[in-house]
Order: sequence, then C-alpha cells, then structure tokens
Amino acid sequence: MTTTNTNSSGVREIGIIMNGVSGRMGYRQHLVRSILAIRDEGGIELSDGTKVTVRPLLVGRTESKLAEIAKRHGIEDWTTDLDAALADPRWEIYADFLVTKARSSALRKAIAAGKTIYTEKPTAESVEEALELARLAAAAGVKTGVVHDKLYLPGLRKLKRLIDSGFFGRILSVRGEFGYWVFEGDWQPAQRPSWNYRVEDGGGIIVDMFPHWNYVLENLFGEVRSVYTQASIHIPERWDEQGDKYETTAEDAAYGIFELDGGVVAQINSSWTVRVNRDELVEFHVDGTHGSAVVGLFGAKIQHRNATPKPVWNPDLADTHDYDADWAEVPTNDVFANGFRQQWEEFLDSYVLGTDYPFDLLAGARGVQLAAAGLQSAEEGRKVELPELSLEG
Ligand SMILES: NC(=O)c1ccc[n+]([C@@H]2O[C@H](COP(=O)([O-])OP(=O)(O)OC[C@H]3O[C@@H](n4cnc5c(N)ncnc54)[C@H](O)[C@@H]3O)[C@@H](O)[C@H]2O)c1
Repeated sequence: MTTTNTNSSGVREIGIIMNGVSGRMGYRQHLVRSILAIRDEGGIELSDGTKVTVRPLLVGRTESKLAEIAKRHGIEDWTTDLDAALADPRWEIYADFLVTKARSSALRKAIAAGKTIYTEKPTAESVEEALELARLAAAAGVKTGVVHDKLYLPGLRKLKRLIDSGFFGRILSVRGEFGYWVFEGDWQPAQRPSWNYRVEDGGGIIVDMFPHWNYVLENLFGEVRSVYTQASIHIPERWDEQGDKYETTAEDAAYGIFELDGGVVAQINSSWTVRVNRDELVEFHVDGTHGSAVVGLFGAKIQHRNATPKPVWNPDLADTHDYDADWAEVPTNDVFANGFRQQWEEFLDSYVLGTDYPFDLLAGARGVQLAAAGLQSAEEGRKVELPELSLEG
C-alpha cells in the first residue's frame, strides 16, 4: 500500500500524513520541533547507518490555515481530503494529533488503508475502542506508535539511569505532583483550550494525564494493578476562546493512588488548579531502601542512605536543619534533544528497520484503561483493579 520515495540527494524520503497540525501539539511539537527539524537537518541516520528523511503532508479541515502553515515552513503538500491522502501510496505513515474525540474514526480509516500509525494519546475515548484499534492494527499487520513523550524528559531519563544503576535499592513509593494554575479565561485568557474542561468534548485531567502516568509508571516502576482516584471540578465556570462563559463539566484535578506490580505504591496529584511551589511543573519523589530522588522535567536530585539525616519530631522546638542541603544534584552528562523528536526518531528507526516497537496501540490502550479506571474509581468512591489487556479477544 506504500511506495518508497527518494529525494533529489538519493536519500529515502518517508511520506508522513500529519493530521491536526493547526493544534497546539500537532504544530509545535510534532511538526516544527520534530518532523521539520529532521527535514531541515537533511534527515537522520538510523541505527544501521542508513540515512532517511521525511516529507510531511499537512491534513486539516481549513484550507487557508494549512496553506498558511505550509507557506511559513516551505511545505509543498497539504490537503483537506484525508481519504485521498490515505489512498495515495506515497504517504507511508499516518500521524494523528486531532482532538481526542476525532481520533479513533481517523485511526480506523488509516489502519484500513494499511498505513503505519503514529498517534498522540489518548488513543480512544473508551478502553473497548482503544483495544479494538490495537487489535485491528495487529490483524492488518500495521506498525503502530503512541506518544510517550514524558519518558524522554531529561529528568526522567536521569531517573531511569538511577533505577538501572541500582541506586534506590528496593523502591518503595513514588509521589508525583503535576500541575499549575490555568486561568479561568475572564480577566486573563486561559492557557489551555476550553474543550479540556468539558467532558462532552473529551476533556478532563484524568483522560489527559492518566495515559501519561500509565506509561511513566509501567516503564519505570511496574505495571499498574489498581487505582483509587478522587476527582474534583474545583472551578465550576470558565470563559472560552471567544470570551463566552461556559459551565465546566470535566474534573480539573485528580488525586490518585496507584498500586504497581511488585508492590510499589505511587501517589500522583494532577491539577490545573494549583499554584506552583516546586522547582518544576511536574516532580516525582521516589523513595527506596538505599536512596531517594526528586526528579522534574529537567532536574534530578538525590539523597543516599549514608547522607540521610535523622530528624526527631519535636513541636516545641523550631527545626533549624536545612533539609534542602541534604540533596545532591545529578549532573547533566548527556545532551537531551526535544522528547517528541527523540521518540519520532526511534519510531522511524524501528519502522524502517522492522524492529519491535514497544510503545504501540496496546500500550496506548493500557493508558486509556487507566484513565477509565480512574474515572470509575472517582465515580464509585472505591479502588478499581486493572485486568491485563491482550490482543487476543
Ligand atoms: N503528549 C502530550 O504531552 C499532550 C499534551 C497535550 C495534548 N495532547 C493530546 O494531543 C491531542 C491534541 O491536543 P491539543 O492540545 O493540541 O488540542 P488543540 O485543540 O490545540 O488541537 C486539536 C486539533 O484537532 C483539530 N480538530 C478539532 N476538532 C476536530 C474535529 N471534530 N475533526 C477533525 N479535527 C478536529 C483542530 O483543528 C486542531 O488541529 C489531544 O488528543 C490531547 O490529548 C498530548
């Protein structure tokens, strides 16, 4: 269903349908920071030494917007006709950055057209649909990739290295704090799209963040076995992009407890209604028998058991110990490229060389499953177990 193209320099050129490039993620992270950056550097070298480059086809609903983006970046191909793009064998990969609600129908079409799939998360709005997409892709023999960007953050890469080095001993628990204040939209415009706060439009912080927490937890600490979530709509009304007031119907904060394979307990607060008093917008505090770490997007600091102070609780005496001073900064020994781009490069490598790719639609379905279980837990006020998902069904 696809043909192999080469550019004027004789380098293989992979045609990528990019659907949703007018959006926040589609434009900035996937188009500009990843695909155009790769194109503008003349391509990438794969792990076997061959060179490939990329050629984007912009797809969207508004011709003028696509034409404007294409002109701004010297892109030759754009269209509002997704079906025609999918039918054209020059385009090998279908990449999806649409609003979540519009995703599964587009993915279905792309799988039926035999395209390789690369998509933002969440992959669908329900577990059944996410699993069906994974199964359809497996049955059609198409390779799939789902965005796992947080794993590529410098801070989380440092954390992975700490784990692999055995620094922690036995890991006991993880405390995550994610969030910042998203303005209501009346006296200052909101810095996130209004659909995020409407459940009927696919919004809510659980659907948005739990797919991330799922792959972060399963790739660093163990698969999630159960979840308990308290969800809240703290701000009941907001103002949209047109300045019109609307009622918020989706939770803007979720307080979750996750039990992981192997016994690690993770507790993650996700909130668009918190004012930041941390070093970074996301931080994970990991405690192990031999050491602890606090990592963010970029930074990572550690405290070894040999450098652990011995506090004694005494409410009658002001504590003058400087606890911050007990932590040592992990040095930045690597150059970390944009995380979205790093994952794109790995995916292209796996696609061209035909190697297994772990962050596939089944991994995406596990992310959707955690979000659904989080919502169910919040609704029913109880812990919800997560059964293992499989492609056989
Ligand atoms: N990986 C991450 O860190 C991350 C962060 C934010 C959002 N996301 C995900 O990325 C996706 C896009 O989010 P965003 O914040 O860029 O949203 P956005 O609203 O900025 O962009 C959405 C895009 O979808 C298009 N679109 C909207 N409604 C459509 C419809 N009915 N049919 C076809 N196209 C439609 C818009 O034109 C736009 O191009 C979401 O699924 C979201 O969950 C991922």
